[in-house]
Amino acid sequence: MIRKLLSYLLPITVFKTKSNWSKSIEITWANGELVLDSENTNYSYGSLQRILRLGLKTIGFRQIRKMNTILVLGVAGGSVIKTLNDEIQFKGKIIGVEIDPEIIKIANSYFQLNQIPNLSLLNTDAFEFVLQANDKYDLIIVDIFQDTKMPSFLFENFFTQRLCALLQEKGCILFNTMVLSEKDNQRNKKYCTEFYQPNFKIKTIPRVEIHNELIVIEKI
Ligand SMILES: C[S@@+](CC[C@H](N)C(=O)[O-])C[C@H]1O[C@@H](n2cnc3c(N)ncnc32)[C@H](O)[C@@H]1O
Repeated sequence: MIRKLLSYLLPITVFKTKSNWSKSIEITWANGELVLDSENTNYSYGSLQRILRLGLKTIGFRQIRKMNTILVLGVAGGSVIKTLNDEIQFKGKIIGVEIDPEIIKIANSYFQLNQIPNLSLLNTDAFEFVLQANDKYDLIIVDIFQDTKMPSFLFENFFTQRLCALLQEKGCILFNTMVLSEKDNQRNKKYCTEFYQPNFKIKTIPRVEIHNELIVIEKI
């Protein structure tokens, strides 16, 4: 494990490729762990895993452990799935939706997602999936990025309404957003102030990593 040790001094890239969806996909040893990065940001493990772990902590590990079904939109290397599996010991069903088949291959070969028995991984567009879904979920994690960009459908009323319709009673949505500019900041503010669904409430989690803001929507 010499690369793992050396990576505390300097990141070591062990694999690099690209896909129709991503200009660059890199697997790198950094600070003793294997991370997945896109051209300009960290996609899985590293800071991304810390951000979502904080979101899950805010919802409550104990409460999550009791849930039956969790939907993860945007899987990449699957670090939030590892948190659910390894740290929370979540035994219910996890459905993962990822648009990029190349990333799914990497998730399986470098991060062994195919060894998680309660995970079904679907290669499809999250928007299409949500449009057609009928099943209900206790928790929906929305973590969709194209490099540093967030597709605009994520902030559209229609998509939010569909997500809310897919929640079980007392279920919640954990929405990871990137805030790189004042424009992004305003976009998030508008999203939260204009959010209205009867029997739902919305809040943001104070930021730990400067460029990310987590939004939580709860069905009450
Ligand atoms: C930040 S990564 C997800 C990280 C992951 N949740 C984790 O815990 O490691 C964002 C992912 O969203 C995927 N993505 C982008 N647009 C998508 C879409 N429309 N539908 C599904 N996945 C999408 C990207 O290919 C990328 O793998």
